[in-house]
Amino acid sequence: MLSAVKDNTLYQTYSGSTTNSNGKGEHIFAGRTDDGYLRRAFIAFDLSAIPAGSTITGVSLTLFMSRSRASAVNVSLHRATASWGEGTSNAAQEEGRGALATPGDATWLHRFYPTSLWANVGGDFRSTTSAVASVSREGPYVWSGAGLVSDVQMWLNDPATNFGWLLCGDEMQDKSATRFDSREVTTVNNRPVLRVGYVPPQPIGACCLPDDSCALLTSNQCAQAGGTFQGVGTTCTPNPCQPPVGACCLTNGVCEELTQIECTARGGAYHGDGSTCAPDLCPVVLTPFVDPLPVPAPLAPVSGSIGGAATYEVPMRQVQQKLHRDLPLTTVWAYGTAFPGPVIEATVDQPVTVKWINDLRDSSGALRTNHYLPVDTCLHGPDMEGSKPRVVVHLHGGKVRQQDDGYPEETFLPGQSRTNFYANSQPAAAIWFHDHALGITRLNVYMGLAGLYILRDAAENALGLPSGANEIPLVIQDRKFRADGSLVYPALWDEHFFGDTIIVNGKAWPYLVVKKGKYRFRVVSGSTSRTYRLALSSGATFHQIGTDGGMLPAPVPLNQITLMPGERADVIVDFASYPMGAEIFLTNSAPAPFPGEVGTGVVPNVMKFIVTNVVGHTATLPATLRPLEQLQESNAVTHREFILRKSADACTGAKWLINDLHWDDISEFPVLGTTEVWSFINRSGVAHPMHLHLVLMQVLDRQPFVISNDLVVPTGPRVPRTADEAGWKDTVRANPSEITRVITRFDGYAGRYPYHCHIIEHEDHEMMRQFEVVLPPRFTDIKRIGTDILLSFQPSANRRHFLQRRNDFAAGAWTTFATNILGGTSNLTTLDPAGATQLRRFYRIGLSAE
Ligand code: C2O
Ligand code: CU
Ligand code: CU
Repeated sequence: MLSAVKDNTLYQTYSGSTTNSNGKGEHIFAGRTDDGYLRRAFIAFDLSAIPAGSTITGVSLTLFMSRSRASAVNVSLHRATASWGEGTSNAAQEEGRGALATPGDATWLHRFYPTSLWANVGGDFRSTTSAVASVSREGPYVWSGAGLVSDVQMWLNDPATNFGWLLCGDEMQDKSATRFDSREVTTVNNRPVLRVGYVPPQPIGACCLPDDSCALLTSNQCAQAGGTFQGVGTTCTPNPCQPPVGACCLTNGVCEELTQIECTARGGAYHGDGSTCAPDLCPVVLTPFVDPLPVPAPLAPVSGSIGGAATYEVPMRQVQQKLHRDLPLTTVWAYGTAFPGPVIEATVDQPVTVKWINDLRDSSGALRTNHYLPVDTCLHGPDMEGSKPRVVVHLHGGKVRQQDDGYPEETFLPGQSRTNFYANSQPAAAIWFHDHALGITRLNVYMGLAGLYILRDAAENALGLPSGANEIPLVIQDRKFRADGSLVYPALWDEHFFGDTIIVNGKAWPYLVVKKGKYRFRVVSGSTSRTYRLALSSGATFHQIGTDGGMLPAPVPLNQITLMPGERADVIVDFASYPMGAEIFLTNSAPAPFPGEVGTGVVPNVMKFIVTNVVGHTATLPATLRPLEQLQESNAVTHREFILRKSADACTGAKWLINDLHWDDISEFPVLGTTEVWSFINRSGVAHPMHLHLVLMQVLDRQPFVISNDLVVPTGPRVPRTADEAGWKDTVRANPSEITRVITRFDGYAGRYPYHCHIIEHEDHEMMRQFEVVLPPRFTDIKRIGTDILLSFQPSANRRHFLQRRNDFAAGAWTTFATNILGGTSNLTTLDPAGATQLRRFYRIGLSAE
């Protein structure tokens, strides 16, 4: 039961400008007076006794009518929409005419006399009726219903809107004025009374909503809103709803743990809720295209001539190198003085000898005893050798003897050296040298141990291709840096590493000023894991003239070229048609890992070309380059299959395998001089660049497959290789869910050579095996001893042999008389071809099938 806190009457009179009121009077009036003027009453109640958050269930207003009317009239309640006052005016007698308003009184014109006016003369209120009652005789009358409930609920929810009600009589009808007792009436029982029924609020507390905002709700409401209730009586100040924080990489390479909103506001990159500022999380963001492209110079020999037969000495050194304008010096390992190493220029059939010297020293000048980067000793190699800074140099793409190939186990330490002989008896090509130490190749190459080896011949030199300043190596790699310039590489083996910065010839995102003309770029894809799909931002066509192992038969026009780690491309780019000042970007669109998802892991820029108005090499490109010997599948004596897939590893979690076998499991013994077809069956989700040492391959075709009941089931035809792959390859992309067939002839040298995936992280953790090229077996002696024939032969290592003879040379049919002979140098038979004089023509030896 609430009593009114204020009430008053607005009196309309003849002048229309009356200021009569009746603040302290004992009555209030509503309706039209006998002489035709309106009376309106306002009444308000204080609801503060009702707990905030309550639900109003019922409202009734009781007014006592203190002067009766002959006939019934309707008196209605309207919600007031502006505040009004009650002063001290107090009308005399029956109060029907009011009294002069005092300050603060509401009048027909004023909300508060004399300063504030109603917006509408006669009071501001909602036209909608909240409740109505019919009154006639003296006595109490009650207004109630949904309209009042909603008014009171509104006032409770927002007390600032509680201006009370207007009491409105029948204003259409003369002599309808009604009189009710006010809150000041002497008879207390006749004073206005408001009864409010309500359900008090459920216990409320702070609720953390899904968007991390805070609201005061009941626990049920909170649950319905998907929030977390913080407990009855908890409040939102201070805000208990802590938004999650995560690592945020700011643009200067600094990491802070911030909320996502804070991180974005500061221009940072958010690494996800709950992520932490782990070391090396935040990359240094370098401005691209501020450094000119370095062009590695040809190495000067210690004897002989550049490009001819020569002897070189190449020390491996730890040096400080400036890799970007804004980056402090970076510690790298160089062949010579800078990474990538110098270019060794050589000519076909003019041999080169290189003394490779491990001269890696720490900053004090002492020979290093451990690696610069952390070494994962789970891997084969470091499991025995620990973190020693072992090196061994492999000439990738070179046809060399086993002892010169850079056998991964024949590593040497600081203070030691190895001298290798390179015969250069192979097609002219841009090949490259890089480190190959077992289990740490990725670390050594990442540190910088790689360089280019360009082999030329007279036929190529006669083609008139861009040369000299118009022929430029582009060794493309990726790196990641700390703000102090040092290289970031994970301490524990991971199946791939992707740097966020592209380095070309040892500079991050360099630029090259080019003449209007053709350039020959010898592109080396030299990252440990990252594949590049290169294109010109102008969309222009360029020409590929060579692959890993030398010239293509003819230039191949392309708009983009995909190079996996280890692959090379010899390309001609023509800048003649661009205006002076044009800027053309060499872009990359290859996802990482590859082939991955379009756009994922891509570092889009490689370098920039700026075109000058100087005219460069404008001679036309020859239509044909050189004839290519096409290896014939019909000549293949052996077909082998290699399953590429990941496996579990107790130490690192995972490792990559070829046919589920390891480095020491040698099972391929190709015979020197024979041709084989190798099929790489990629049962994994990523592409693997498969590389064979010693030999050059030709891609035959690729065929899609699915796995059904653990069997490889081809799902389409073999798709022949495209023109850009129609040359000699030493590294071949084996796409996921495809059988990639290559053909190769194992000529050159007998011996053990690695073959492996050139994603060096894979290579280092078991995706590298060996084949052993064996000499064909041959008879060393055949002689007659009495009636016996003594056959002496040199077996082919690790192979089983069969022996055959024919009785009649002219008849020609061979009869096998011994099989599966492993070794030994002699075999005695009693099989004397009757009357034969030229014994060797009656016997032959071969290799049993493996
Ligand atoms: Cu380029 Cu065995 O490697
Ligand atoms: Cu190689
Ligand atoms: Cu691989």
